[in-house]
Order: sequence, then C-alpha cells, then structure tokens
Amino acid sequence: MAKRKLERFNEMKGMDRVIQPSMEDIKNDDFHLKGKWCLEFFGKEGPLIIELGCGKGEYSVGLGKKYPDKNFIGVDIKGARIWRGAKDVEEHNLENVGFIRSKIDFIDRFFGEGEVDEIWLTFSDPQKEKPRKRLTGPLFINRYRKFLKPGGVIHLKTDSDLLYEFTLEEIKENGYKMIESTGDVYGDYFDNLSEDEKEVLNIRTHYEKLFASKGHIIKYCRFQVD
Ligand SMILES: C[S@@+](CC[C@H](N)C(=O)[O-])C[C@H]1O[C@@H](n2cnc3c(N)ncnc32)[C@H](O)[C@@H]1O
Repeated sequence: MAKRKLERFNEMKGMDRVIQPSMEDIKNDDFHLKGKWCLEFFGKEGPLIIELGCGKGEYSVGLGKKYPDKNFIGVDIKGARIWRGAKDVEEHNLENVGFIRSKIDFIDRFFGEGEVDEIWLTFSDPQKEKPRKRLTGPLFINRYRKFLKPGGVIHLKTDSDLLYEFTLEEIKENGYKMIESTGDVYGDYFDNLSEDEKEVLNIRTHYEKLFASKGHIIKYCRFQVD
C-alpha cells in the first residue's frame, strides 16, 4: 500500500467520527449503535440522514454545515476517500457528521426500524453489467425499507442516463411516490428552486465535477418507497 494511504488509514483509526467495523462482525451481527445513532453517537436528537457511496462525503459535510440540527452519516467502503470527509469534519468542528466505512450491502445491520429520515445516493455506480447491484434496484430498496421512517425520502443525483432512467422505471413499476425529477438539474429547473433548495442541489461532489467537466448533464430525482 502507498505510504500516504497507509498514513491516512492509521490516522483514521484515531478519529472518533469514523466507524470502521470488521466485515466479519457486520456479516454476523447487527452493529451495536443500530437504533441509537442520534443519542449515542451524536449525543443529540435530530433527523438522521445518510449518504450511501459517499466517497469524500461532500454531501454529508455540506448538508451538515447547512443543517446543524440534523445528523448526517456518510457510508463508503473506500477508506482513502472517507479520510477526506473526516478531515473536513474535524477542520470545521462538525459534531453532527460521521462516517461508516463498510459495504452498503450490509447497510441494514447499521440502522434500526424507522431510524433514518433521508437517504442521499450521490453519483452511485450505474452498474452497467450488474443491474442487481444498482442502489435504486429492489435488492437495495428492500434493505432501505427496513430503516427508513414512514414518509422517508430517497434522493438520487447522477450523471448516468442509465441509472436515472432505470430509477424512473423502478419508481413507476413499483408504485413508489415520485416527489421531484429533472433530467437537467442546472437548467430551467434550478432557476425555479428556492434559495435553500438551490444551495442543497448546488453541492458538487468530486465525481460530479469530474463528470461535468466531460460535458455530462446532471440529473436528480427524489422519491418515497412506502
Ligand atoms: C462514483 S463514486 C461516487 C462518490 C461520491 N458520492 C461522489 O459523488 O464523488 C461511487 C462510490 O461508491 C462507493 N461504493 C460503490 N459500491 C459500494 C458498496 N457496495 N459499498 C460501499 N461503497 C460502495 C465507491 O467506493 C465510491 O466511492
């Protein structure tokens, strides 16, 4: 492993905002904070919002700064990416943002029934060859149902036509409730948003910047699955 990566991994072990359970533990048992994140990890009540496949955690950090009364957790398997988000959390003294380093496949081991208010899926892998692994497909939606509050919301922000169209189709076929959708976030749609909504959708992640620089159009939808 590269020296810098190793240093960052070691540094993360001492960060109290980063949880890194072993895969074996999570495969076999629920995580001990399941159902207790707000009071036991953040030390305060509040809505809980999670970002899955968070990478460097720009949404978790950006929303955490904007909404200090809400709690945010970014989840990703890549430690080197989470490290960046965790450093931002430290530098800005954000007590309402944390990270879990884990595979999303075990996400229902971490959160209890009705514990999560919102899920953000930010530039998730479109899984061109493996539709089963798409984060808006039935396998994952059924996991989210176990811990989303009634009326809980899922946000998808993506550059991928494939993932966007797939998600719209899933919403329609399964009778989920579509709240908002746009095939071009920064087009006319953006001009008609409130200032708060603009600020939220204008958070740009590492992958968003990468894809936008290649001319990809950014798409967004928000829906409920109950
Ligand atoms: C294309 S990147 C997007 C990262 C970030 N949200 C952004 O917009 O910059 C997808 C991220 O999802 C993570 N990921 C993909 N599948 C995962 C899984 N099954 N469990 C945990 N993380 C996963 C990858 O490690 C990667 O950081």
